[in-house]
Amino acid sequence: MSITTIRAVAPARVNIIGEHTDHNDGLVLPTCTALFTRIIAKPRADGTVRATTTTLGEAEDFELDDLSPLQTSNWIEYVKGIAAGLQEAGVALRGAELEIDSDIPLGAGLSSSASLELAAANALLAIAGATLLPDELARICQKAEQEYAGVQCGIMDQYALACTESGNALFLDCRSMQALQVKLPSDLTFILTDSGVRHQLTDGDYNNRAEECAAAVEILAQSDAAVKSLRDVDADLLTRQESELGDLLFRRCRHVLSENERVLDMVTALKAKDLPKIGSLLTACHESLRDDFAASCKPVDALVAGANDSELVLGSRMVGGGFGGCVLSACHSKDVIEVAEHIRDVYAAANGEQPWQHQVVPAHPARVTGE
Ligand code: GLA
Repeated sequence: MSITTIRAVAPARVNIIGEHTDHNDGLVLPTCTALFTRIIAKPRADGTVRATTTTLGEAEDFELDDLSPLQTSNWIEYVKGIAAGLQEAGVALRGAELEIDSDIPLGAGLSSSASLELAAANALLAIAGATLLPDELARICQKAEQEYAGVQCGIMDQYALACTESGNALFLDCRSMQALQVKLPSDLTFILTDSGVRHQLTDGDYNNRAEECAAAVEILAQSDAAVKSLRDVDADLLTRQESELGDLLFRRCRHVLSENERVLDMVTALKAKDLPKIGSLLTACHESLRDDFAASCKPVDALVAGANDSELVLGSRMVGGGFGGCVLSACHSKDVIEVAEHIRDVYAAANGEQPWQHQVVPAHPARVTGE
């Protein structure tokens, strides 16, 4: 039977902890939530991929025999990059009509772009009647973002959306690519509140932080040739090289090293269902991102502080690449209504309107849901 209609769906990524560690060969612990990119795909007889997005009300197309990157932040570049990656992997693609819809807020630290990538990859694969392993798909999507959108991102978002099982967090070592599913305690609830501040990763600050980390590695490698990434650096070496690095690079490194430790501690705390510890790790992560990695901004800091003013809030932090986007707060599940209201009040007092808010709900990884 020939393929008529394919439905592909990919969730949003919520990184519990391990921020800006993936592009330093480090540790991450993301989960998925029930916000989705949905694609309805139909095959075409020619070699054109034509995509419409109801979210932006736009239509774009490209030809499968001309997939050269334009490196713009236009959403179609992500889809084109996916097509190029799939072809490179040996998939004989067919033309397609893609109808894209998403309820993931854009630029809010929830990986709307990786979600689009995974959904598009699954849609194009299914139209071609081909399959690839989830981790291969994640790599193709990461490469598309790097080469077609020009963001030197790590592997976390794509891998999380391809491989995290519903109700779990994924403890991923971005160097060895060893991954472990970690069950999230049922009496723990995460709430996302959008600060409303927007800053696209394609604006350059993300790449700038990645370049600072690379510059630090170059300096540290001069005293120890075994240093190939910040993963090879321990606290002793960092302290010894503090003056060589200078204050700024020293702080960038200190964030990455301490964040890797916090990921390990978070895995232990989740397994032990130690809710207070989980909360304090979130807040410590925020402080490190704010003070050492300089990836936060004042409205996000204010929302984190205001959220944490309630005794019912276990801890809060900015989530995702940073420079705006959502705040992630943790609470005991029995307190979720009161906590959500408290954080909305904090936001409303500062902004005169209600924020976008979402309670993290288990979601399946990216998949094709049928014809
Ligand atoms: C973005 C990138 C990820 C990761 C986070 C920060 O989401 O796409 O690879 O680096 O920022 O942790």
